[in-house]
Amino acid sequence: MRIFSGIQPTGRKHLGNYIGAIRQYVQAQERGEAILCIVDLHATTVPYDPAALRRSVLDTAAMLLAAGLDPARCVLFRQGDVAEHPELCWLLCSVTAHGDLNRMHQFKEKSARHELVSAGLFLYPVLQAADVLAYRAEEVPVGADQRQHVELMRDIALRFNERFGETLVVPRHRIPEVGARIMDLQEPERKMSTTDSTEQGTIYVLDQPSAIVKKLKSAVTDSGRDIIRSPEKPGISNLIEVMAVIGETESADVELEFDGAGYGSFKQAVGDAVVEFLAPVRERYAELRGDEAALEAVLGEGAERARVLARETLADVRGRMGVGPPPAAVP
Ligand code: TRP
Repeated sequence: MRIFSGIQPTGRKHLGNYIGAIRQYVQAQERGEAILCIVDLHATTVPYDPAALRRSVLDTAAMLLAAGLDPARCVLFRQGDVAEHPELCWLLCSVTAHGDLNRMHQFKEKSARHELVSAGLFLYPVLQAADVLAYRAEEVPVGADQRQHVELMRDIALRFNERFGETLVVPRHRIPEVGARIMDLQEPERKMSTTDSTEQGTIYVLDQPSAIVKKLKSAVTDSGRDIIRSPEKPGISNLIEVMAVIGETESADVELEFDGAGYGSFKQAVGDAVVEFLAPVRERYAELRGDEAALEAVLGEGAERARVLARETLADVRGRMGVGPPPAAVP
């Protein structure tokens, strides 16, 4: 089975990213042929700094490798290295409904935040569809916020096949059941997020242990003292969820284990568990990030392997659509 996912090169990954997404990529290596792409072209759709983007791509590559991605067992590459992505994006625009793009939640949210709403931001989901469809991937591991984008790429693939003949594989999403929604520690009604969270409410993968413990100690909990999940108590529920995911147990087991412990000592325990969970990643990251030439070499090799796969699909798509060199002329 071929599995594809794209990851934004935003510099600082937080615990929610790690549990909800990054761990899924690592597991994908065991379940199939995993192709992971750092999406620098997507990152240009909102205001950004070019030098910082380059650095962030390497930050992200180092983070993925530190988390356990193994270039010998997956294809890890940078989107901007493989020109087939933007080319396929353009070709797929012909089978994408303008009205569908207008309905995308992420577009609406992001366009409300920026003064210049770029055409790139509008076409973002088509490029995302091209990312996946170029590899005829069957499965797309993503966070819950990407459900709509995966639905759209399915529609695009179906419409292409209907219009031009059976060519593209219709992918399906895979959203993790646990840990998909790690909430902000200060505002537990909202997801832990790179853009919308408070510094105090967000645990970054590269945070120092002391910072992690401090953030967890000052996490907003609710009135009462029982370690029990309930919709009225999003704060303590979130901490129970974090503990369960990290310990690979059920939330009910966490409740049982900390029955009567009180909020203070529970928070301390969660802090210790998170520190222990993230420490090895932080240490490997420091080592990997120090060698930029090695990171570029990994990405370069990945891009070469990706190109071979994407080229095949592009030749078929061009042929079906009647654009570019006639199929017989392709060597
Ligand atoms: N839009 C995704 C996000 O914000 C990133 C992404 C780009 C992606 N291309 C993709 C995810 C292809 C899955 C498949 O997280």
